[in-house]
Amino acid sequence: MKPTIQIKDKCFEISIPSEKILEEVKRMAEQINKDLAGTEPLFLVVLNGAFMFAADLMKQVSIPCQISFVKLASYHGTGTTGKVKELIGLNENIEGRTVVIVEDIVDTGITMEQMIHSLKAKHPKEVHIATFFYKPEALQKTVHLDYVGMHIPNDFIVGYGLDYDGFGRNLTDIYTLKKEVNEVCLSLK
Ligand code: IMP
Ligand code: MG
Repeated sequence: MKPTIQIKDKCFEISIPSEKILEEVKRMAEQINKDLAGTEPLFLVVLNGAFMFAADLMKQVSIPCQISFVKLASYHGTGTTGKVKELIGLNENIEGRTVVIVEDIVDTGITMEQMIHSLKAKHPKEVHIATFFYKPEALQKTVHLDYVGMHIPNDFIVGYGLDYDGFGRNLTDIYTLKKEVNEVCLSLK
């Protein structure tokens, strides 16, 4: 039986081990190091979800760069609200700069569409998106993803920065919501 955890009222089963995640992060960083050499990019990390991916990615990015953070929120429980709230905004001047958005997951694409739109108004040279997870079946918007870690099915996941109601962000592996209810859930605690 696969390791299972319970978070509040829901059961989750392990689906992606941390070793696999780190392999893909390394591959993404190597590509970024090649593509963006000489551009001195500004990495813009989308909090809260992307904090763990960003830390792993930036440890492997070896070109001169800067890192900053914005805080957005769109999810409530296990579903998107369709509206994106900006909780902490951008302070840097990005005019003429190469910007790389660092995101945990692209689901409907609403967050990335809105972010690209508001960044473009500040006249950067170019904006790239680096997202670790991508759910192609959930996408509702046209967004170009430059760097993608893993394509995943349209299931709700937690771990590696992603949460259910604020919990589960600290898990290093990825867990997927189990569809069956009333199952015995063995806590890993
Ligand atoms: P989008 O705007 O629908 O693309 O959603 C983006 C945001 O929703 C992500 O940055 C996550 O914070 C959150 N999100 C999307 N899918 C999941 C999931 O499966 N688990 C936890 N959070 C998710
Ligand atoms: Mg996010």
